[in-house]
Amino acid sequence: MRVRILGTAAGGGAPQWNCACNPCARLRGLGSSAWRTQDSIAVTDGHSGWYLINASPDLRTQILRTDELAPGPAPRQTPIRGVLLTDAELDHTMGLVALREATALDVYATAPVLDALNTGFPLRRLLQPYEGAWTWTATAPGTPLRLGGHLSVTTIALGTKRPRYAAAPPDDAPWVVGYRVEDLRTGGALVYAPCLAAWTRDLDDACVGADYLIIDGTFYYDDEMTRATGRGASALSMGHMPIAGPGGSLEHAREHGGMRVLYTHLNNTNPLVCAASPEHAVIEATGAAVASERMILTC
Ligand code: MLT
Ligand code: MN
Ligand code: ZN
Repeated sequence: MRVRILGTAAGGGAPQWNCACNPCARLRGLGSSAWRTQDSIAVTDGHSGWYLINASPDLRTQILRTDELAPGPAPRQTPIRGVLLTDAELDHTMGLVALREATALDVYATAPVLDALNTGFPLRRLLQPYEGAWTWTATAPGTPLRLGGHLSVTTIALGTKRPRYAAAPPDDAPWVVGYRVEDLRTGGALVYAPCLAAWTRDLDDACVGADYLIIDGTFYYDDEMTRATGRGASALSMGHMPIAGPGGSLEHAREHGGMRVLYTHLNNTNPLVCAASPEHAVIEATGAAVASERMILTC
């Protein structure tokens, strides 16, 4: 399996257009090579085209700068076969609009997410007049999915947080999921979980034998929004477990020796967006890392 990391920032990207917090200001000073686009990855078994996990508002730029995703040889031929969504958040779904020229596309998401894209954020209805042969398929924890020739995908329930546009009394539907993608020929496996409210037994099970875990790195500290901007809620109350501290995601991830841990979906307040920060050195000392824009992984 080959994996291309297309983007590594949380909603808004880093720097965020209207933010002058310390990390945003520092990134602006470093110039565009240090900037991060909103999180997404592309995976392939090397034979059956590419599948995206999440479609960010930056998708057009991400595709244009990725050689493997270039069209051809026929005039309107693309190697992009489909998109798996981890949730219905704007930063993970708006890129579907940028794919409206696709003559065929297979989109996979859980039932509440597919429903939200018909109602609160009615992308499916809006895209219908543009669509070629698009399919919308419900994924569910416990029902493995086969992609292309050799990729087997397991859906991992990760949370019930609804997007703000779909706010309603809480239910226990799988609004947020991760995916374990395994190449059945090589045995290589990757877990992608860019939105993680709490570490669960299901996530531990999905990590067993995985080569890579690409995980929610929205916030380093639970009180980071307040530290950086003077206002804002805690990381946990926003559905993102912090990286640091007792019970933080780093402590859990480290229990899986042999699995490479890469943080993604970094909020622009996160000190990890700057490679020179002390927090960056702390996670690298544990063997974990921050995912880089355009990074390639194989397993
Ligand atoms: C999140 O990751 O919590 C959401 O994408 C936040 C947002 O609405 O941008
Ligand atoms: Mn997000
Ligand atoms: Zn900022």
